[in-house]
Amino acid sequence: MLPQSVKLVEVGPRDGLQNEPGAVPTAAKVTLIEALAAAGLPVIEAGSFVSPKWVPQMADTADVLAALRRRPGVSYPVLVPNTKGLEAALAATGVEEIAVFGAASESFSRRNTNCSIAEGLARFAGVIAGARDAGLRVRGYVSCVLGCPYEGAVEPSAVARVAGELFDMGCYEVSLGDTIGTGTPLAAQRMVDAVAGRVPRDRLAAHFHDTYGQALANLLAVMERGIATIDSSVSGLGGCPYARGASGNVATEDVLYMLNGMGIETGVDMAALLRAGAGIGAALGRPPASRVGRALAERAPPDAGAA
Ligand code: HMG
Ligand code: MG
Repeated sequence: MLPQSVKLVEVGPRDGLQNEPGAVPTAAKVTLIEALAAAGLPVIEAGSFVSPKWVPQMADTADVLAALRRRPGVSYPVLVPNTKGLEAALAATGVEEIAVFGAASESFSRRNTNCSIAEGLARFAGVIAGARDAGLRVRGYVSCVLGCPYEGAVEPSAVARVAGELFDMGCYEVSLGDTIGTGTPLAAQRMVDAVAGRVPRDRLAAHFHDTYGQALANLLAVMERGIATIDSSVSGLGGCPYARGASGNVATEDVLYMLNGMGIETGVDMAALLRAGAGIGAALGRPPASRVGRALAERAPPDAGAA
């Protein structure tokens, strides 16, 4: 049975912009996040406190948070890989939620965070405990849930193990990342069913990249298995700097169009979302990249199909 409503977690300002080849001005990031909140997105990843040597695009996250005008009821999580990142998050303005990120594949864990899966989880134990002591909510990510750029196939049981540990350590939600977008619907369902043995389905999120054009099909498949939280990126921004060939997350506009068409509530306004996408596109010097954004741009009025 499909959910009646879906929580959309907007990851474009982090997962999207972390992968931009050039520097994106802090003001453009702030404008984007504020426009996404105005469109009704309830959760907007605002940046990450990772090593600026590894991901220079996120080095201004503290400045973004200081400049941001927050909307009541909207959550603005930031990624944190270690204690140093947690300290930076706690010192920054207004952080109430962080996300830690592990992987189901050893090679990806090393490339992304320079440690094994087990070492990463041991680090997170301290980070999660420290964050919760400070009153922060913690979300967990597992990468490479449907394939690894270095190892190929990934066993659902490996995903379930890492997701289960993150949940047991205190993550209120675990987001399952098809980092390189190689998954297909039945594999996605099998993976979710395996993870559901360790983490309740209503605490799981789908974080699917659209590299092979499978993301919407995979999302529909996992919604049929009880997933009602979906990560997406406005205008399909992004990729992952440590997964060569990974394209952006599934575009928020495309997910919203599908959910609207199925009568599934999100609270997100299509016209305002399109304006947010057009704004960041203009700042990056690119036209909107979502299929729906392009299709609706050809039509008038601009909010056609929004209901
Ligand atoms: P390391 O080199 O092993 O760390 O990197 P280290 O502890 O040896 O420190 C090296 C240097 O980094 C030191 O500086 C530290 O101070 C500094 P130096 O002494 O050389 O001047 N440093 C930091 N600076 C700022 N903030 C910090 C921090 N930590 C250390 N938090 C580390 C280990 C984890 C830090 C590194 O590998 C890293 O930052 N990795 C992050 C990579 C990343 O952000 N990837 C993208 C996000 S994950 C993703 O996109 C997937 C996801 O979307 C889901 C999916 O799609 O699957 C979530
Ligand atoms: Mg991602």
